[in-house]
Amino acid sequence: MTPVISVHDLTKTYRVGEVDVRALRGVSLDVQPGEFVALTGPSGSGKSTFMHLAGCLDRPTSGAYLLNGRDVSSLGTRDLSRVRNREIGFVFQGFNLLPRTTALEQVELPMLYGPAVAAMERHARAIAALQAVGLGERLDHHPNQLSGGQQQRVAIARALVNKPVLLLADEPTGNLDTRTSIEVMGIFQKLNAEGLTIVLVTHEPDIAEYATRIVAFRDGRVRSDRPVAVRRSADTELRNYELQAAEEEVA
Ligand SMILES: Nc1ncnc2c1ncn2[C@@H]1O[C@H](COP(=O)(O)OP(=O)(O)O)[C@@H](O)[C@H]1O
Ligand SMILES: [Mg+2]
Repeated sequence: MTPVISVHDLTKTYRVGEVDVRALRGVSLDVQPGEFVALTGPSGSGKSTFMHLAGCLDRPTSGAYLLNGRDVSSLGTRDLSRVRNREIGFVFQGFNLLPRTTALEQVELPMLYGPAVAAMERHARAIAALQAVGLGERLDHHPNQLSGGQQQRVAIARALVNKPVLLLADEPTGNLDTRTSIEVMGIFQKLNAEGLTIVLVTHEPDIAEYATRIVAFRDGRVRSDRPVAVRRSADTELRNYELQAAEEEVA
């Protein structure tokens, strides 16, 4: 099978004033279709830099990147943004929603940039995407009328509406409480079970265990790469959480 992501000896050096910051120092990694990879590692280890390169938001300083078998490491800005819009969905820690825009409009937005989609179909696809994340009843809500978990679900629907081959999520549960984090991981697990390839950054070890594979970064390199032996199930964790909450109420 052609890997979704195949990077070889990827480096990224940022020039800050007179100083070179070597954020990635040679990362080689393949991600196969249907994998759910958690990227971990201390702050500053290069996780976000890797996600930017994998997401075609930026170009590497050196090294190769094949996205679905296609060399994207030296594409120009226009081609990069086309690839990004068609093939990749992003979810960020801070949701990145527009303030005075309804959930439905946020999710329709990516379809305005890609290949032309008729208004009717745009509407229908956005509604379906919001229903898939359990927000079918919140189409007309603005971000300030939604909880953090609901806002992140709008962001997930927006990331998926163009049917990307790859979902990239950088600390998607970083601003969420425990229960909501489990719910969001449940959405990712469901999408992954349906075949979506996911790479998710987290510094929380228990969140990483919802994935199928954990890649740990350190100082801009891959320090370890291992399958998850006992995978967490969001459904089970949610049930345990409810039970525990109920017991605490009784006590
Ligand atoms: N746009 C940038 N300009 C300059 N330095 C950066 C930039 N982005 C990240 N860095 C630096 O690169 C290193 C890796 O950062 P980052 O990829 O954000 O790590 P992580 O996401 O693991 O915390 C850090 O030293 C950080 O300060
Ligand atoms: Mg980061």
